Amino acid sequence: MVKVNEDYLKLRGSYLFSEIAKRVNAYSANNPDKKIIRLGIGDVTLPIASSITDALHAAVDEMAVKETFKGYAPDLGYEFLRKAISENDYKARGCQIEADEVFVSDGAKSDSGNIQEIFGKDNKVAVCDPVYPVYVDTNVMAGRSGDFDEATGQWKNLIYMPCDENNGFVAELPKEIPDIIYLCFPNNPTGAAITKDKLQEWVDFANKNGSVIIYDAAYEAYISEEGIPHSIYECEGARTCAIEIHSFSKNAGFTGVRLGYTVIPKDLVRDGVALRDLWARRHGTKYNGAPYIIQKAGEAVYSVEGQKQIKEQIAYYMNNASYILNGLKEAGFTVYGGVNAPYIWLKTPNNMDSWSFFDKLLNTANVVGTPGVGFGAHGEGYFRLTAFGDADATKEAVDRIKNM
Ligand SMILES: Cc1ncc(COP(=O)(O)O)c(C=O)c1O
Repeated sequence: MVKVNEDYLKLRGSYLFSEIAKRVNAYSANNPDKKIIRLGIGDVTLPIASSITDALHAAVDEMAVKETFKGYAPDLGYEFLRKAISENDYKARGCQIEADEVFVSDGAKSDSGNIQEIFGKDNKVAVCDPVYPVYVDTNVMAGRSGDFDEATGQWKNLIYMPCDENNGFVAELPKEIPDIIYLCFPNNPTGAAITKDKLQEWVDFANKNGSVIIYDAAYEAYISEEGIPHSIYECEGARTCAIEIHSFSKNAGFTGVRLGYTVIPKDLVRDGVALRDLWARRHGTKYNGAPYIIQKAGEAVYSVEGQKQIKEQIAYYMNNASYILNGLKEAGFTVYGGVNAPYIWLKTPNNMDSWSFFDKLLNTANVVGTPGVGFGAHGEGYFRLTAFGDADATKEAVDRIKNM
């Protein structure tokens, strides 16, 4: 008899977004005349910049000609893109990351979910709370957690690092030493950023204890302040303890076309094994490479025109972020994030729980956001709004919230 992977059975349903959809649909059915504005989505809304789609079109044309047609891509990524990443995202920032330490993929969700495969089952995993759920669920699927504890809203056998107002939503070093530590900065969902000094503490901690940091830098392009590192490799010693994951989704609008990459320095060795080699093996065996045409589009992101255009798009979203942040402050809300990240994390008024605030916002302002508790127990009492919407709709949403 076939046995299924029982660790999958431990997973909880994707309750958050299905519950949001259910409540929004019910409200719409009862109030068909109301215009609902969605500030809950984590997806971009601006089209891909023209210099990037031009590269995409040109690459498609190459595919139609015998002499320039490309079949399977190299499974670790085309050299032209790995070089562009190494030069622009690293060497230009003083980080010595070579092209052969960069692994191109179809996005940060896959990489942040798959990376745990190269580690043994018995490793102790630490995550922030609240957290991007992929890190948790993929470790549950791999059997690294115990059961879900309904009373605490947390998985047994994982180390949770609370991120709240007391620590500015930046986790403190845990008392119990983890083997694998997931960090994401700028953060989804809280919008918090980490200073270089603070990140250095994490790097020192990991090197001292032999831990590995999996650093998700999906929102790096949104950093606007000085002193906030764009890469963990800006910290001394990170080459011996950190893996970094990037996405082209939020900086260049690739959520629908799919492209990302992971960096594993050759100096990162655990258990006598270079983790880079394990990931190369995993990639080679399980992945046949991101499409040529998409990698050409990715290369165009680093062109002069590409950089100019994506900066304009990021500025558009960050204008939305400022509007939300300032508007909510004026309305008397306590708000966080929104400066180095496209997420605004607000404290629900009068200690309202996250779902009650969701209902209130939907019913009185016809605005949809995401209840903070959906990202973990320490997200209770908070609420996430995103800056990825249309500018006029975002303004209208904020004005409605102000008049609530
Ligand atoms: C923290 C974080 N990492 C990764 C991703 C996924 O990125 P990608 O579209 O490259 O898979 C997201 C998307 O919302 C995210 O918030």
